[in-house]
Amino acid sequence: GILHGIIWRQGEPTRPSCLSKRRLLSMKQLKKYIDTNRQRFIAELIEYLRFPSVSAQSAHNKDMAACARWLANHARSFGLKPRVYKSGGHPIVTIATPRKRNSTRPHFLVYGHYDVQPPEPLELWDSPPFEPTLRGRNLFARGASDNKGQHFAHLKAVEAYLKTDTELPCDLTFVVEGEEEVGGEALVGFLKQNKRELKCDGVVVSDTGMPDLKHPALTYALRGVAALEVKLTGPDRDLHSGIYGGSVENPAMALSKLLGRMINKNGSINLPGFYDDVVKLTAYERRQLARVPYSEAKYKKLLGVKALFGEKGFTPNEQRCARPTFEINGLTSGYQGEGSKTIVPSSASAKITMRLVPNQNPQKILRLVARQLKALCPPTMRIEVELGHAADPYIVSPTGPLAKASLKSLKAAFGHEPVLLREGGSIPIVEHFARILKVNTYLLGLALPDDNLHSPNEKIDLEVFMRGIWMSANLWTNLAEA
Ligand code: BES
Ligand code: ZN
Repeated sequence: GILHGIIWRQGEPTRPSCLSKRRLLSMKQLKKYIDTNRQRFIAELIEYLRFPSVSAQSAHNKDMAACARWLANHARSFGLKPRVYKSGGHPIVTIATPRKRNSTRPHFLVYGHYDVQPPEPLELWDSPPFEPTLRGRNLFARGASDNKGQHFAHLKAVEAYLKTDTELPCDLTFVVEGEEEVGGEALVGFLKQNKRELKCDGVVVSDTGMPDLKHPALTYALRGVAALEVKLTGPDRDLHSGIYGGSVENPAMALSKLLGRMINKNGSINLPGFYDDVVKLTAYERRQLARVPYSEAKYKKLLGVKALFGEKGFTPNEQRCARPTFEINGLTSGYQGEGSKTIVPSSASAKITMRLVPNQNPQKILRLVARQLKALCPPTMRIEVELGHAADPYIVSPTGPLAKASLKSLKAAFGHEPVLLREGGSIPIVEHFARILKVNTYLLGLALPDDNLHSPNEKIDLEVFMRGIWMSANLWTNLAEA
């Protein structure tokens, strides 16, 4: 990973700027347009959410393509220039604002993804995942917050500029992909091939969270990720556990022991070299993170756990945002059906991902972990380790002019001083924007902690959605001024 030269200056609170009369007037016009069209914006978002655009399931390939086409047609309907690229995987949609000839305006990309996580288990949804349903202030549907609602808010802000004949102070290109949730690589190739057209002054992404309506957030770091699968095989078939059990090692037990050795009692990862490249949190960062409201009781309730567990010496917010992890995502062995079956299973396997932080390198970590698993594998077992997808962690200075313009826009829309966050989730393409296009990404997340990303009953808070549109309208003016 590239660690950008960050200067940890104490952030000044955002200052109200002196707006010219003309600008005040046009901002007022934009606000009015947004408020007046609330119902229609929500109805359109509902249309967008009806597509079951599940990138992980090939049965939905047609829905993916239809969803991409819908987005392009929708953008065209109010004067934008969309293109749908085939890509080899799921289509990529770009949407450009009308350009003036020889424009000297700054150019920003807005990134989002129209693919969603699988909705299963379906029985835990209170309303079907692809039949968007309003309950109170919330709109429930898979993808509502992750990520259709969030990038749709930016699109509606652009619509407000176009429809009110307010001059957009910058050129924008939306890049909306369909493989974010599966760690797809199609967009990386696309960036490399279209470097010239995508040359820009920065990238804006709303695909992260905010603590609550009183704490809008600028996220300046994301964790990376590295995936692998490990399989242990003992006997060449399932054996009768009465006839043979006791004389052969049980693969499920062997795998449990092996994985159990990967983490210490104090919650740290038990692997020499694992933490070597981790950049320490600064005092300034810890102070900023501590501004996020936190109550242990509420946090436990949100997650439905009896007690918390995490690396000693770090607060839960630090643990989930700024420290690396080793997670078992899936664990399989033996008989899973009804009733009992007395066997020694032939094999056991686990799907693992590690979350990584600046400046850890996913490939290096994968090699390290694979080597350790093989070294600790007991002589009774054959081991296979298959390496999977990987994404670099990301960090950007939260004190530069574009970060300041972002903070100002958040404050204008939410009416509260924004917090600076690091987030635990990963958005793989963000590091590629830095590497390939040589630009920073500013993460202005609109997901609330109870939006249920990746869980049943995902939703978006429509007040956040509307304020998100207004935030975006402010952003293009503030970024252009910066
Ligand atoms: N929007 C999330 C990432 C996210 C969520 C970041 C909340 C910060 C706060 C994104 O869609 C996502 O889920 N990414 C995957 C990437 C993985 C499949 C490579 C993730 O983090 O698991
Ligand atoms: Zn996601």
